[in-house]
Amino acid sequence: MAGSDKLVAAARAARLHAVADFSGFKVGAALETVTGEIITGCNIENATYGLTICAERVAIFKALSEGHRQFTRIVVVADTESPTPPCGACRQIIWEFCGDVPVVMANLAAVVATLQMKDLLPLPFDGRLL
Ligand code: THU
Repeated sequence: MAGSDKLVAAARAARLHAVADFSGFKVGAALETVTGEIITGCNIENATYGLTICAERVAIFKALSEGHRQFTRIVVVADTESPTPPCGACRQIIWEFCGDVPVVMANLAAVVATLQMKDLLPLPFDGRLL
């Protein structure tokens, strides 16, 4: 398991790649695999706005596309004093592909909150209900 600091640092570095020309709100994410690898993502916006993909989903889809299937933690970083929690769409994707992992929310200076996915998405819909 990579140290928390390493995962947070990776998310901060990924944030610098954010394509956030419309909102100006840059977000970085770092996902830890069960084997200790780190896969990062940043938010990617486009001119139609609605096709925007959040940093968390970019990281998860990158990881899945590279064959990773088990994850232990995800970090989200934004330049805000209060925590930046995953949006509803990201909560669904994090839940389905990562399960009840800790979601670590940090800013450029510190970790500001850590919540479990089961608390961020109570009563989830997932494949067990199909
Ligand atoms: N955003 C993320 O990437 N992750 C979050 O957890 C919250 C929001 C992005 C989406 C959009 O590019 C910008 O932040 C403003 O909503």
